[in-house]
Amino acid sequence: MDRRTFLESILAFNFLPALTPALENRPDSAEEEEDFWRSIRGEFMLHPSIINLNNGGVSPHPRSVVEALFRMELTANEAPAYVMWRIQDQKEPIRQRLAAIGGADPEEIAIVRNSTEALETVIFGLNLKAGDEVIAAESDYPSMIAAWKQREARDGIKVRWLRLPLPSEDEDKLVAPYLEAITPRTRVIHLTHLINWTGQIVPVEKVTAEARKRGIFTIVDAAHSYAHIPLDFHAMGCDAAGVSLHKWLCAPFGTGLLYVKKERIRDIWPLFAPAADRRADDIRKFEHLGTRSIPTEQAIAAAIDFHERIGSQRKFERLKKLRQYWLSKAIQLPKIKSLTPDKLAGALATIQVDGWSPQKLADHLLEKHRIFVVGIDWAGMQGIRVTPHVYTTFEELDKLVDALRAV
Ligand SMILES: Cc1ncc(COP(=O)(O)O)c(C=O)c1O
Repeated sequence: MDRRTFLESILAFNFLPALTPALENRPDSAEEEEDFWRSIRGEFMLHPSIINLNNGGVSPHPRSVVEALFRMELTANEAPAYVMWRIQDQKEPIRQRLAAIGGADPEEIAIVRNSTEALETVIFGLNLKAGDEVIAAESDYPSMIAAWKQREARDGIKVRWLRLPLPSEDEDKLVAPYLEAITPRTRVIHLTHLINWTGQIVPVEKVTAEARKRGIFTIVDAAHSYAHIPLDFHAMGCDAAGVSLHKWLCAPFGTGLLYVKKERIRDIWPLFAPAADRRADDIRKFEHLGTRSIPTEQAIAAAIDFHERIGSQRKFERLKKLRQYWLSKAIQLPKIKSLTPDKLAGALATIQVDGWSPQKLADHLLEKHRIFVVGIDWAGMQGIRVTPHVYTTFEELDKLVDALRAV
């Protein structure tokens, strides 16, 4: 094998089968199921003294992803322009696999750096003029709120800010504020699929269905839902969506995707002007960027392998089970109220504890109990958000409940 063939064979790991065979059949017993999750935990290199229950901010990646990333980084440094650009840079297989997880066509998936880049590409890339209206919610992510405010200031558009009835298990009640805010001037509806503050899942497909009938463009912030909830962009019915792959897919930090429905690609200007011969309806026009980390992008493949070994549905069920385990115990305690609905939620949940400010309680849990959660204080929602991940154990959640009891 010459050196180039050798390099190609170790670097193009996208084409290699996953290291461990897919477990397509679920084990028969609960014990075997727990063995499986213990083995998943064994794949993470976890902090030795902190129980990390803030996996909503960003996820750790398992060892296979860290290794893929560093292996490529080391090799790239031997001759970066040659190795990165001639050998490593193979986006298409990754695009195909990311599309398959989200039920999309590969020609609808752009690989970007995070949800912020994906969503702001659309927010700033749509042709809107003074007087056009946009509907968004106070519970949307602050960077997207800021982006819309910048468009208001710059272009004279008007944003109607909604306060959703949170938490809610009533899908119609969640949808109604969007539909009621539509006017003849509405051009865009911006929705968050899984609200980061409380974990509420919004039935976005019911809003997009109505919007489509009226020719309104819909953007879904799916930062927290992709690879967490089994989802299908086509069924979601939106025109565009943004995802952070460093959250639930466990891909390297600084990876994301932008989904744009095929027919809508030409309606959006890219943030960075692509090469002149790039067609306006080619999703790759959104990937134009100067020099970037190819190892970071390519190691997404190892994260997909990891995700596929678990499976989307099995992962969602586990995440839900972990959340329900601690939350059902916590709400039995006095002074604790859940801000998260039971059915329309996955791993994330937020509780309010009487007499404690969110930050004070988060600090206390960290200092006294070595449990890391995040304080939430946004648009009337106040509490601590607890986010387990696939590697979290029930024993860790018991420690959280004990700490809350002591509080
Ligand atoms: C709902 C939501 N949207 C967007 C983002 C931004 O994600 P990123 O920092 O990966 O761009 C986050 C981050 O937590 C989020 O929770």
